[in-house]
Amino acid sequence: MDLTVEGKAYIDGSFQDCCLGITDGKITAIKKILKGDKHITFSHKLILPAGIDIHVHFRDPGMTHKEDFSTGSLAAAFGGVSCYYDMPNTIPQTTDMLSLLDKINSSEKKSFVDFGIYSGISNRNIQNIAKIGEKCSGFKIYLGSTTNSLMLNSKNLRDVFKAANSTNKPILIHAEDDQCLINYKSDERNLTDHLKCRPSECEETAIKKILTSSKTSKNKIHICHLSSFEGLELLKDKQKNISCGVTPHHLLLNIEKNLSPKTWHKVNPPIRTDIDRAALFDGIQNGSIDVLESDHAPHTLDEKNIEFNDAPSGIPGVETLFPMFLYLAKKEKISFGRLISLFCENPAEIVNVPKGKLEIGKDADFIVIDYKDESKVKSEHLHSKCGWSPFEGWPAIFPTHVFVRGEKLIEEHEMLENQGFGRFVDKW
Ligand code: NCD
Ligand code: ZN
Ligand code: ZN
Repeated sequence: MDLTVEGKAYIDGSFQDCCLGITDGKITAIKKILKGDKHITFSHKLILPAGIDIHVHFRDPGMTHKEDFSTGSLAAAFGGVSCYYDMPNTIPQTTDMLSLLDKINSSEKKSFVDFGIYSGISNRNIQNIAKIGEKCSGFKIYLGSTTNSLMLNSKNLRDVFKAANSTNKPILIHAEDDQCLINYKSDERNLTDHLKCRPSECEETAIKKILTSSKTSKNKIHICHLSSFEGLELLKDKQKNISCGVTPHHLLLNIEKNLSPKTWHKVNPPIRTDIDRAALFDGIQNGSIDVLESDHAPHTLDEKNIEFNDAPSGIPGVETLFPMFLYLAKKEKISFGRLISLFCENPAEIVNVPKGKLEIGKDADFIVIDYKDESKVKSEHLHSKCGWSPFEGWPAIFPTHVFVRGEKLIEEHEMLENQGFGRFVDKW
């Protein structure tokens, strides 16, 4: 064994004093006592699987003034995320083989942690789905317009599910119905207007269309950033291959709070009422929601600090998600078990990556936290290019150590590896 790591590790649903044995980047043994070529002891600390964020926008290529694979993945690493999945609404959009391969190449050179890359599905590349599916980590569909998004007409959903059947790749969907959004479109001066322009009805309509057109689909279908009470109701008895995710901003913020600056909180789907927020929080506790995803969507301060109507939608969050929820777990707002299901185990299953669990055969991706090491979210300490967070000042527990494939990436909050360490996880 190359390395053995000793501590209180989350194994089989509880924290146990034990050792993880690691060979060639994989967990190969879990026992009370193990000694490898190298041995590290974290006696009073907790060892948890690292997070998997299946929804980030790292803006590379085309908008690298907002973020790039290097800064985005650095932020991911410091937030305890060992693997991220990047969305296709870049410039150019990732909708064909060339843009996909370029993106994988570029991220392989720049990334600090492992990653997957989605391909977008628009009305124009449906016939290429099977081919692209051989190389991409999954597909992304936008049913309603949002920041620089490619769109799919919902009439084409059936054809898309049919074409994707052969690929065995997950399909992630931004579920706001475009016709509905068009019906409500008007000028927006504040967050209440933004909410009125994107009511829950549009999420409901989109989810209904997805549910009726995907009945015979064999692919995993994931509804991204669920935001409404009504949307969640529709998904309570969903088919086994359908999952849904929710973001920290929809779980922790609501329109009745005096959210300021307003444009920072402009996001799609919008931040809704406390009734929606509370229903979603119930959903992560009781298991009707499967995944926590950041929807890390950075925009610069200059871009955000303009007239509300013209400001772009999107909130950063890849670095703060796990630390804020580790703090909430400590405060018993959610159990560690649920948190690990939501941000490690379930995402890994959806994107089919051998990570997310401290189990023999999985990649040795884990974080170490010191239960007493409470701190506050401070933008100046975060690694995203955007330089701000709507969670400024919120309590959090940042991991002291992060391991990816058995390599110590972060030690005592310091990065040890170079960019380029991260690997594309779906290499053919
Ligand atoms: C995202 C972005 O900026 O790329 N914006 C957002 O408000 N969530 C796009 C998206 O996920 O809808
Ligand atoms: Zn979206
Ligand atoms: Zn998104």
